[in-house]
Amino acid sequence: RQREKQTLFEAHAYTAKLYHYLLQNTEAAKSAKDYLRSRGFSDKLIEEFGIGYAPARWDTLVQALARQQYEPAEMERGGLLSRKQDGDGYVDRFRDRVMFPIHDGDGRIVAFAGRLMTDGQPKYLNSPETPLFNKSRTLYRLHEAKGSIRRTKQVVLFEGYVDCIKAWWAGVHNGVATMGTALTAEHAALLRRYADEAIICYDGDDAGQAAAQKSIPLLEAAGLRARVGIMPNRMDPDEYVSSYGGEAFVRECIDGAVSAVKFQLIYLRKSHILLEDDGKIRYLSEAVRLVARRESPTERELLLKELAQEFNVSVDTLKQEVVDVRRQEK
Ligand code: GTP
Ligand code: MN
Ligand code: MN
Ligand code: MN
Ligand code: MN
Repeated sequence: RQREKQTLFEAHAYTAKLYHYLLQNTEAAKSAKDYLRSRGFSDKLIEEFGIGYAPARWDTLVQALARQQYEPAEMERGGLLSRKQDGDGYVDRFRDRVMFPIHDGDGRIVAFAGRLMTDGQPKYLNSPETPLFNKSRTLYRLHEAKGSIRRTKQVVLFEGYVDCIKAWWAGVHNGVATMGTALTAEHAALLRRYADEAIICYDGDDAGQAAAQKSIPLLEAAGLRARVGIMPNRMDPDEYVSSYGGEAFVRECIDGAVSAVKFQLIYLRKSHILLEDDGKIRYLSEAVRLVARRESPTERELLLKELAQEFNVSVDTLKQEVVDVRRQEK
């Protein structure tokens, strides 16, 4: 079992080198290179992130791994090869994709994400769950970001690999991304080892905002303070950096991230029609509920003052409501 894991670590390191070499040195990878250039990937980024290319053939890796004396059945269990649909034999799992290596916390390559260069499904093909790779425990770039997270006591969470990479380019070196799955309690507990605060920097579309909403209680339950970077016009961080530049990204989305409860209030507003008294009252009562959950009396007071001012009600009335809610929820 331990032997097999060791073999798979080696096979992943070998495969990553091969894919990277093919991207940087072969004519067959021209479309991949052009694709990466069109998305703003310099050679420096390609090198730093070990990006590669899996050719549009069925047996590039099958042949290469065989030459290195690796057992194909074992490589299939490791997620590098797939069994042929009909009959015996194996084929490459990743074909004609830009390859992003994924490391474990110790910096060993344990999986890949392969992106199509054209429209099609799936856009990203990931390694399956293997003896080396468990999605709900792995965070993209944690091995590299760890030092920076420890120093700043802060981690930035992204939805996408490319978002994480472009943010790194912009100087955000404490960023990690989930594997296209929702953040788990395991992820949050892992991050709590290094950080006091998490900045959620998900996509500005509805899916991203809903995911941010769900991540807040998970992070807080693990003991992390949560803030949220606001992405305008449904952009994702990659698009934001491309449109407005790295400095604006850091200033507006990272340093300018709002507190968890501020984000929850912004989110709540979207589902209420505040032009009518009915809507206002319902919004206020749900807003008070959110405020009541905050443990800090100062934070509660500040939030209530803002709400009171905006809706032209007295702070005392809202305070009384908070007291009632806190009593009920005890
Ligand atoms: P780009 O289009 O390359 O910029 O990717 P993105 O990160 O903007 O993709 P999107 O916002 O659609 O999805 C966010 C993340 O979800 C991606 O980075 C992937 O981790 C994951 N994801 C997206 N599409 C797929 C898919 O087809 N399959 C899998 N397994 N994961 C996906
Ligand atoms: Mn290189
Ligand atoms: Mn998205
Ligand atoms: Mn996106
Ligand atoms: Mn994107």
